[in-house]
Amino acid sequence: MTLHVLGHPLANKILTDLRDKSTPATRFRELGKQLTYFLLIEATRGLKTKLKNIETPLADFDGTDLGQSIVVVPILRAGLIMLQPAIDILQDVSIGYIGMERDETTALARTYYCKLPNLNDKFVVVIDPMLATGHSAELALETVLQQNPSDVVMVSMIAAPEGVRHLENLFPDVPIYTAAVDERLDEHKFIFPGLGDFGDRAYDTN
Ligand code: URA
Repeated sequence: MTLHVLGHPLANKILTDLRDKSTPATRFRELGKQLTYFLLIEATRGLKTKLKNIETPLADFDGTDLGQSIVVVPILRAGLIMLQPAIDILQDVSIGYIGMERDETTALARTYYCKLPNLNDKFVVVIDPMLATGHSAELALETVLQQNPSDVVMVSMIAAPEGVRHLENLFPDVPIYTAAVDERLDEHKFIFPGLGDFGDRAYDTN
């Protein structure tokens, strides 16, 4: 099973406030940050670890260190809202950027910018808050997978069933982490009921 849906009551409350159209941009960004913490904790559960011996004030202790490096790849522009919480929580990360534009009539994605660090053997976390048709995620995952990472996970706040099916068919080994799978895509390929245009709500544009 590659789909993981957070079922945490706090995450669901945050997501409800994000969906609420009366939530202003400043609060929306803060809520987006909070929800990202929940998602990333789940999405990185499979990180390899190694032994780290330290001394507590009382004794020798065999503790834990990370056994692999992490790369976070936000899909611009909405994914940027999830970047700072990723840096906060994952700490020693390298960052790659993939800029995607959606043609509003065809809803097809196009890459206009791509700058990635070395992904070989890395644990790569692709972040984009809205997994709608899955076309942007498809292009991003294709690009990332070409560089032989050891693990790739896709992290979104809300997914549409159509986007989930699309990615599951193309990338059965890439787990998807999300806080909700909504009803469907609407005629404009927006997630329904969703939360509207994530970038516009976060950056107060239209
Ligand atoms: N992107 C968004 O911001 N919202 C959607 O509903 C779908 C894609």
